[in-house]
Amino acid sequence: MDALQISERFSVAQAIVREAGDLAMGYFRNRETLAVESKGPQDVVSEADRAVEAMILDRIAARFPADSVLGEETGGPQSWDGATPLWVVDPIDGTACFVNGIPVWCISIALVAGSEIEIGVVFDPNAGELFAARRGHGALLNGVPMRPSTAASFAEGIVGVGYSPRRPAAAVVQAIAQLLAEGGMYQCNGSGALMLAYVAAGRLIGYYEAHINSWDCLAALAMIREVDGWTNDFLAGDGLTRGNAVAAAAPGLAEAMRRLSGLT
Ligand code: IPD
Ligand code: CA
Ligand code: CA
Repeated sequence: MDALQISERFSVAQAIVREAGDLAMGYFRNRETLAVESKGPQDVVSEADRAVEAMILDRIAARFPADSVLGEETGGPQSWDGATPLWVVDPIDGTACFVNGIPVWCISIALVAGSEIEIGVVFDPNAGELFAARRGHGALLNGVPMRPSTAASFAEGIVGVGYSPRRPAAAVVQAIAQLLAEGGMYQCNGSGALMLAYVAAGRLIGYYEAHINSWDCLAALAMIREVDGWTNDFLAGDGLTRGNAVAAAAPGLAEAMRRLSGLT
């Protein structure tokens, strides 16, 4: 993909994520009538997730019919050649918050080409915040460049921690115990995509989760890299299709977060 093709997709991604936010907000405001199904322990899906993903996929197909899409609710292409642009979509990240009326959720869209995350956009319609990054062109929050925290120790801020039953509790319990022992503090707000975007924006000083899927994290990882923060090599192996452990940190905490997470 050349720069023009990426730039066009960056603009379209921002428009789509805003439209998706409006659609999701309609469901959120009327959630007492929302149909919700369980996919497993602590894992629900609502008609809002499916409708928002369908709308996003429609918009992408209309503008870029040859591109591929990997969506949380609809899955990915049969095969992906690596060269075709791949959109990675989470229609609602923070569904548990969404269905319980907690205004902490977002829409997350990334664009991958080859082994690079070229674009990442995360929109939080409750806060009216659009986080957006394009590889090599910086990361913006509502049009203003983001800056990561200048913290140099865990004692100087809050680390986001995510958990899902996809992994045993031991890894996260151990990481939290270690963090607290070093004078740190943790927060879990229910949206991995938002917490990772907060690392780029300097609100959190790091993030750790023992397993997360690509649609939850790729968009925000693109932002963290643009602000010179540290992230592990999430796409190593089959991270794109099967997920991976994820860790991220403000620049001054890269070494500390490597040690805490055991990731590289
Ligand atoms: C989940 C959220 C959560 C994270 C999980 C994700 P969903 O996504 O990002 O914060 O801990 O790993 O599965 O189900 O709300 O889209
Ligand atoms: Ca998600
Ligand atoms: Ca989701």
